[in-house]
Amino acid sequence: MRILVLYFTQSGQLREILQSFMQPLSDYQVDFKEVKPLKAFPFPWTSDEFFDAMPDSVLEKGAPLAPLDEVEGPYDLIVVGHQPWFLSPAIPVTALLQSPDFKRLAKGKPVLTLIGSRNMWINAQSSVTRMIEAAGGRVVGNVPLVDKTNNLISAVTILYWMVTGKKDKMWGIFPPPGVAPKDIEGTADFGRLLKSCLEEQRLEEVQADFVATGRLRLSPNILFIEKRGKMMFRIWAGLLAGLAPGSRKRRLGITAFKYYLFFALFLVAPIVLLVYNVLFLPFLFPRFKKKRQQLLMNDFSNL
Ligand SMILES: Cc1cc2nc3c(=O)[nH]c(=O)nc-3n(C[C@H](O)[C@H](O)[C@H](O)COP(=O)(O)O)c2cc1C
Repeated sequence: MRILVLYFTQSGQLREILQSFMQPLSDYQVDFKEVKPLKAFPFPWTSDEFFDAMPDSVLEKGAPLAPLDEVEGPYDLIVVGHQPWFLSPAIPVTALLQSPDFKRLAKGKPVLTLIGSRNMWINAQSSVTRMIEAAGGRVVGNVPLVDKTNNLISAVTILYWMVTGKKDKMWGIFPPPGVAPKDIEGTADFGRLLKSCLEEQRLEEVQADFVATGRLRLSPNILFIEKRGKMMFRIWAGLLAGLAPGSRKRRLGITAFKYYLFFALFLVAPIVLLVYNVLFLPFLFPRFKKKRQQLLMNDFSNL
């Protein structure tokens, strides 16, 4: 059994998640391969660079990567670690999944995805699934890891992490950003479930086993924001993509987007969510539960 683990990471968080996940499978031949853009993305980011990554992320434009040509297939299973950027796959992940190298390795193979996100991974996973299928692979499972802190608090702390590079308590009082160390360690449990499925030759059932743990999270409020957020991001991305990188107009546009995002996230969303939770959610909850089950089973057919 040969397993290839492909990932991109800036802080190392996604590598830690993947190492923990693969630890119970160490009897197999497991090859880790980190994807590197030819021109590195900044980490820590400046605030302007961070928001400037939105249009290309949302429009799924990859950036050139160092080739994977020394990776020799065939592999029995491919594991892809990814992280959402602006409700879309991170630019290097898009580049990977669209690359001839990935198509060569994934064609006709089962692929399992792991996500190291803040808390909004649905749209990105829907795109990643589509890209893997376009490459001829078959997604058999997905383990999404999130920062379980309140949505507004984690929006603040993740930005702090991204612009300082420090995964510690902002001002000594906020909770630490990112996926909790306990949850990263706990990813090994999912690796154990994968191992059983591989040994019992029932890989097609692995996602049902993952979901049955009850540890995959998706709240109605997050799904509500994600769906509307992605619609708005597409509009902004379309407007901003036409502005030349580095130009004054682009800088102004990106600044406008940044303030729009703060306004939407910290002012509009809490009010709309309050109304949604009080007036609508009690009636819509059974429908949401069905949809959650479908999304956790990696079915995005009617997102
Ligand atoms: C430009 C950018 C945009 C991001 N947008 C999102 C997002 O839309 N949803 C989300 O859950 N996390 C988002 N994150 C957090 C990442 O998904 C990820 O958890 C974090 O960057 C750590 O990943 P690493 O392993 O690459 O260091 C974003 C991060 C970056 C750098």
